[in-house]
Amino acid sequence: MKPTAIIYGSSLGNTRYVAEKLHQYIPDANLYPAEEVTPEIINNHTNLILGASTWGVGLLQDEFENFVALLLQCDIKDKTIALFGLGDQHNYPDTFCDGMGKLFKMLENRGVKFVGEWAADEYDFSTSKALQNGKLVGLALDEDNEPDLTDYRLKKWSKQIIPAL
Ligand SMILES: Cc1cc2nc3c(=O)[nH]c(=O)nc-3n(C[C@H](O)[C@H](O)[C@H](O)COP(=O)(O)O)c2cc1C
Repeated sequence: MKPTAIIYGSSLGNTRYVAEKLHQYIPDANLYPAEEVTPEIINNHTNLILGASTWGVGLLQDEFENFVALLLQCDIKDKTIALFGLGDQHNYPDTFCDGMGKLFKMLENRGVKFVGEWAADEYDFSTSKALQNGKLVGLALDEDNEPDLTDYRLKKWSKQIIPAL
């Protein structure tokens, strides 16, 4: 595996909890909260696994938004990127994991390779910016309504992405 960073943005701890679990399944990766990431950290990792929750109505988590501004100033061409997002499909069915979709849009056309797209049929939401051509651009997790599915989803997703890292 090439150098891999798991970078997360979390306001109340759900995404941090999930990122720490994911780290258990990808122990060779380095784990960073978004607010601690420097340009050196970005430059030193070939693979970036990026995770954030959605806040407001369809906005990216605050610290993660700042991290993305930094990321966009770095040369990310040729990096492999996998996305995961946390949301609440029951209370925010029209913006479910929109943050992950916005992140995808900001990073596409920058020469990066995305891995880890995920089927949308196990979820119950109306619309999401994370949905592209019928698939989610990354792993969607819902700690508010489906916490019992998180571990199963993380295990399956990590098995799916590890060969590409
Ligand atoms: C005020 C508020 C706004 C939210 N907005 C959205 C939203 O637009 N879409 C969504 O999918 N989830 C939304 N959520 C749900 C959070 O993304 C979810 O609770 C997530 O697990 C929080 O993760 P964190 O603790 O890592 O920040 C919202 C939650 C709150 C409290």
